[in-house]
Amino acid sequence: MALRREKICGTFNKGSSAKGARMSIDENTGSLPDVGKAPLIVDVDFVEEEENTALPLNSADVISQPKSGRPLELPLPIVTPAGRARVVTVTNQKGGVGKTTTVINIAAQLGLRGHRVLVVDADSQGNCATGLGVDKSKVKHTTRDLILSPETAVNARHATAVDGVHMIVGDRTLVGLEQEMLRQLGRERRLAEALVPLLPHYDIILIDTPPSLGLVTINALVASDGVLIPVQTEYFALEGLALLAGTIREVRGLLNPRLGVDGVLLTMHAPTLLNQQVANEILEHLPEFVVQPAIRRNIKLAEAPSHGIPIHLHDPNSKGGQDYQGVTDVLEGRWGLN
Ligand SMILES: Nc1ncnc2c1ncn2[C@@H]1O[C@H](COP(=O)(O)OP(=O)(O)O)[C@@H](O)[C@H]1O
Ligand SMILES: [Mg+2]
Repeated sequence: MALRREKICGTFNKGSSAKGARMSIDENTGSLPDVGKAPLIVDVDFVEEEENTALPLNSADVISQPKSGRPLELPLPIVTPAGRARVVTVTNQKGGVGKTTTVINIAAQLGLRGHRVLVVDADSQGNCATGLGVDKSKVKHTTRDLILSPETAVNARHATAVDGVHMIVGDRTLVGLEQEMLRQLGRERRLAEALVPLLPHYDIILIDTPPSLGLVTINALVASDGVLIPVQTEYFALEGLALLAGTIREVRGLLNPRLGVDGVLLTMHAPTLLNQQVANEILEHLPEFVVQPAIRRNIKLAEAPSHGIPIHLHDPNSKGGQDYQGVTDVLEGRWGLN
C-alpha cells in the first residue's frame, strides 16, 4: 500500500475529465485568473490507496532497444519504481525551443486525463506560472526556497488553472542561486533531496529548466528518471543535441545512474524544406527516441500564455492543441500512465 493525497483544494481527482478542468480565466475580459481564488496548498490529507503498477513494458526493463553504431548516443530510460512519481526534466541548453510551452501543455494534458502532476519551474523567467494561471506576486515559496530549504517543499506547491496540476514557481530569485550553491555541500543533489517527500503523491513531476547546462539544470537531471528534449527543427539542432547528450551521459556516469532519455520532441515544426530535412536527420539518428507527431508552429500556442491558460483551454482543436494531445498519448504510454 502507498500513501497518496486524497484531496487538495479539490484539485486531485483521478477520474476527472475535460469537463472537470477548472477554467479560471475570465472568459469575457480574457484577464489572468486571480490565484487568490485558487488557495495555496498548505493542508495535506493522506489516505491509503493501492500502489501504482510498474510500467507495462514487454521487454525486461527498457522502453526501447538501441541501434548499434549511432554517433549520437543517448541513454535509454528505465522503469519508475512503483508508488512514486516519475521525475522528468524538460531541457535543452538552447533558449526559445519550446521547453516551457512543452512543460505547460503536457502537464495540462496529463492533468486533464486525471493524472496527478507537479510542475517545478527551475527557470528564473518563471514563465510556467504565467502559462498555468498562477500569479507570481502572491507566491511565498519558490523553487529557490525548495532548493535551499527543502523543508519548504510541501508549502511551496500551488494550485493552477488545471485540475490535478500543481506547481512550484520559479522567479527572478533563482538568478544568483548557482553562485550561492557553489559554497554548499552536495550541491548537485539539493533538488533531488527536496523532492523526495513529494514523490509518493504525484504520478509525474515535470521540471522546466533555464537555457543553460549550469548547476540548476544539473540539479534537475540528478533529481530525474527521464529527460524530455524539445528540439527545434532548425540548422545546428544535431550539434546542440550532441552537447546535451554529453552532459546527460556525464550526469548518468557520475551522479545519477538511472537517468535516461524519455523522448526527443520536434518543436515549432513548419513545412519548409530545411525543417523537414532536419526532422528527417534527427529521426534517422534517434529513431527510438523521437516522439511523434512533431509539434507544428502554431500561433495559438504562443497566444495561450497571455490568457494564463494552456492550449487545451485556449483552443484544443488548434494544430498546437492536437499535436500536444498526440505527444501526450505517446508519453502516457512510455510513462506507464494509461
Ligand atoms: N509550436 C509553437 N508554435 C508557435 N510558437 C511557439 C511554439 N512553441 C513555443 N512557441 C513560442 O515560442 C516562444 C519560446 O517558447 P518557450 O516555450 O518559451 O521556449 P523555451 O522555454 O525553450 O525558451 C514563446 O513565445 C512560445 O509561446
Ligand atoms: Mg523556458
